[in-house]
Amino acid sequence: MSVLDIMEKRYSVRGYLDNEVEDEKLNKVLRAAQIAPTGVNAQAFKIYVIETKKHIEELEKVGKWDWFTEAPYIIAVVAKPSDAWTRYDGKNLGDIDATIVMDHIILEATELGLGTCFIAAYNREAVIEMLKLSDDYEPVLLTPLGYPDAEPRGTDRKSLDELVEFI
Ligand SMILES: Cc1cc2nc3c(=O)[nH]c(=O)nc-3n(C[C@H](O)[C@H](O)[C@H](O)COP(=O)(O)O)c2cc1C
Repeated sequence: MSVLDIMEKRYSVRGYLDNEVEDEKLNKVLRAAQIAPTGVNAQAFKIYVIETKKHIEELEKVGKWDWFTEAPYIIAVVAKPSDAWTRYDGKNLGDIDATIVMDHIILEATELGLGTCFIAAYNREAVIEMLKLSDDYEPVLLTPLGYPDAEPRGTDRKSLDELVEFI
């Protein structure tokens, strides 16, 4: 499968089977995260692999969607902005770096037949409490990781004419 094929295959999975994810697949997903590029190679992020069944009560505070806790794992990518690169105008790259890490996770998971869904609409305080994050860390994105049990919702995309300008 080409990278473009994997991107075409990915969709936001909002329903999961109760099947385990094999360690080999989890390790490949984590390797994809590890090799993600970051600004000045700062690698100012942490990944939390949350075993859903062990943390069900905390996770129910993090997100109230019924499908959110169905997958065996939830992965959180957390930025450490004080270690991330900051541009001359004050723009800190922590969120951007963490988002690229999550995209690596999600695309590798897709290649392996696993489902994921970028989640930003979580309860931030509940994530901080569950992960026991110090003030140095900022949660960026979460995703469930498991075998899909839901079809794509058929989201469409703007045309390239709307999205792209050649100048
Ligand atoms: C940065 C980001 C944050 C998102 N946050 C959420 C979220 O909190 N909850 C959710 O159900 N979907 C979330 N999504 C999924 C988007 O709604 C979804 O990607 C978009 O509708 C396109 O659908 P597709 O992923 O199936 O192609 C998020 C996506 C991105 C890229």
